[in-house]
Amino acid sequence: MTIANNTNISNNDMSKNDVINEVRSLLPQIGLHVLGTGHYVPGSPVPNSKLAEIVDTSDEWIVSRTGIRERFFCNGENNLDIACEAARQALQRAGISPQQIGVCLVATFTPDHMSPSIACQLQHELAMPNDTIVFDINAACAGFLYALQTAHKLLLAAPRRYALVLGSEVISRALDFTDRSTCVLFGDGAAAVVVELSVEHQYHSICGTRGDTQKLLYCSGPADEPAGDKPHTVHMNGPEVFRFAVSIIPQSINEVLDKAGLTLDDIDYVVCHQANNRIIAHVVKNMKARPEQFFINLQRYGNTSSASIPIALDEMERQGLLQPGSKIVCVGFGAGFTWGACLLEW
Ligand code: ACO
Repeated sequence: MTIANNTNISNNDMSKNDVINEVRSLLPQIGLHVLGTGHYVPGSPVPNSKLAEIVDTSDEWIVSRTGIRERFFCNGENNLDIACEAARQALQRAGISPQQIGVCLVATFTPDHMSPSIACQLQHELAMPNDTIVFDINAACAGFLYALQTAHKLLLAAPRRYALVLGSEVISRALDFTDRSTCVLFGDGAAAVVVELSVEHQYHSICGTRGDTQKLLYCSGPADEPAGDKPHTVHMNGPEVFRFAVSIIPQSINEVLDKAGLTLDDIDYVVCHQANNRIIAHVVKNMKARPEQFFINLQRYGNTSSASIPIALDEMERQGLLQPGSKIVCVGFGAGFTWGACLLEW
């Protein structure tokens, strides 16, 4: 590699821009290896029938419109508690100690505090070294894919070679349990992966955003209070979100496949953000894909936002669906509107 031979870059012919461009051109050759996964959901499953006792809904409506049968809600546990459980599992399964972590990122839009971040609190709880790069990422349901992509870049310059990346949400805190159009859709949960850079494991990723100026999908905050909106409450225009999802998911899958030089036939599994069965069925039909290629577990968890994709990866790993060399496309979309996709080689 030319750069390695140029020990004093400022004194040779290579301009600074050439150096930067060469480093950037090498990035696609550097993949990501998932060493361990873990997930945690709090308490016991809450079936649709339980929600039907609170709002005017039914198991039949929820199952037929979404596929969701049950979800988990925190009862006294904080985001940090469930994140810690998921992180400990992932570290144990990876055989990596917290002291070996150089980057710790938590995707969440439901942190326990405005500050410090869940990632900062995790650093303390798990006794990761003080120079670990830690922060939370809020890209809503696409958050885990944003976090993984960020970790991939940060690992190039991190103090140690391993990253701990989580999606962790306590969405029940942000639900209006008088609004049947939203409260039946979501669940709480956390999941984590431990990753390292690898030239033997492909990793290609994309992400994007389109400003949601009409507030089609949002969680209110302090700025919404003067208008009479309760802070930290999820609001959604379901049909608009549906339209956005079914157009951005195939687009993102195709973009990441193009980057990898692969086609859908080369992929063992597609893991969509687990929001709604009907969205996934629509995508399968439009892409003329094999339904069994698309992993679905939303019936047991509901929509856990940034945790949904890593929960699915952990379940797939435990079920033996992911073998060395398996190729997986993960794709997510969320409030913002945000989206992201990646190709992982197991
Ligand atoms: N139980 C019973 N009836 C309900 C419920 C409920 N839980 N929720 C809404 N309804 C009613 C509505 O009030 C409406 O009644 P009306 O016709 O008398 O006014 C009727 O059902 C139809 O409402 P729609 O919103 O048109 O229902 P739709 O068929 O579009 O399904 C859904 C709603 C499932 C939310 C759909 O729009 C959807 O899948 N949207 C995608 C959004 C999504 O999955 N979001 C997840 C969160 S966002 C994310 O993860 C990024």
